[in-house]
Amino acid sequence: ATKVILDVDTGSDDAVAIMTAALSPEIDLVAICTTWGNQAIEDTTDNTLRLVDAMGLDVPVYQGCDTAMVKYLTNDYVENRPHVPVMHNGKPVIMHAKHLDLPEAVTRPQNVPAACFYVDYLRKATEKITLIPVGPLTNLGLALRIAPDIAEHIEQIVVMGGGSKITNCNPWGESNIWHDPEAAQIVAECGAKVVWVPLDATHRACITMEDCRRFREIGTFCAKFAAEQCEQRIIVHNAQQPLDIPDAAAVHDALCVAYVIDPTVLTDLRHCHVEIGLAGYGEGQTIVDQRAYPLEKNGYFAYDADRFKFVDILCSCFARDPQK
Ligand code: BDR
Ligand code: CA
Repeated sequence: ATKVILDVDTGSDDAVAIMTAALSPEIDLVAICTTWGNQAIEDTTDNTLRLVDAMGLDVPVYQGCDTAMVKYLTNDYVENRPHVPVMHNGKPVIMHAKHLDLPEAVTRPQNVPAACFYVDYLRKATEKITLIPVGPLTNLGLALRIAPDIAEHIEQIVVMGGGSKITNCNPWGESNIWHDPEAAQIVAECGAKVVWVPLDATHRACITMEDCRRFREIGTFCAKFAAEQCEQRIIVHNAQQPLDIPDAAAVHDALCVAYVIDPTVLTDLRHCHVEIGLAGYGEGQTIVDQRAYPLEKNGYFAYDADRFKFVDILCSCFARDPQK
């Protein structure tokens, strides 16, 4: 099995990613790092621990940074947009609840910050490790800044982040990249293989209400919990960011895990030059050099995904959960 470290800002789609990674026979989940993003670091860590406990996982959780490496970006698109809750059956529905609807966690995070864990673990690793960061890249950016040599111990970094034709934070930025552009740029140039799984791909690999029914029929705890998370995402997508397929949601972070399980789930992965806008209007933008004579190719950028294969991968993982 592939040794994997997840880096999450749990988060509804992060939760689906954790369950998929933990249940896949192809993945040996060695640790989970937490990062800020969807919620404050205390809450994303708490949510991660709640899920780890609910699943009965024996995987250490390392708490990470609480804000960006250089500066906390803010703009009108994010801070001042009207916060109209999406209502469903008389109740407000949000995409990432402050607390996952699970019992309070008993397990505590490890007593080592996530960035330090990366440096220590990767330097000692006797085989190359796959990293799947699916939140702002602060922990990894910091670790690579402290110890650039850790890149040699990385098999690949499968990042959920960016968007070429699609963005979600503002007209130019996707959330994970926009929250910490400098960290993302450090990752882009670190020298390890980087696979970018942007919104262009995750919006194609959408999950429908029909797929949620399939999850529920599997009947395990994880299948039902994933169905809940996805249904909630579909309600919000329908109201705020409808996809090409009606009644569907992107479950971004889980697509990165699915790619490590079966790389053919990303169907249009192009070797290209990727960099991040660091100043001005395009700050936090993912820039892909699409010219005929591009700058040096430093990563792989996914433009499309096979949503049927994605759902099959999720179903086979959820079916392995021993808990009903
Ligand atoms: C990304 O941002 C977070 O809200 C999600 O968990 C996902 O990682 C999508 O832009
Ligand atoms: Ca995330």
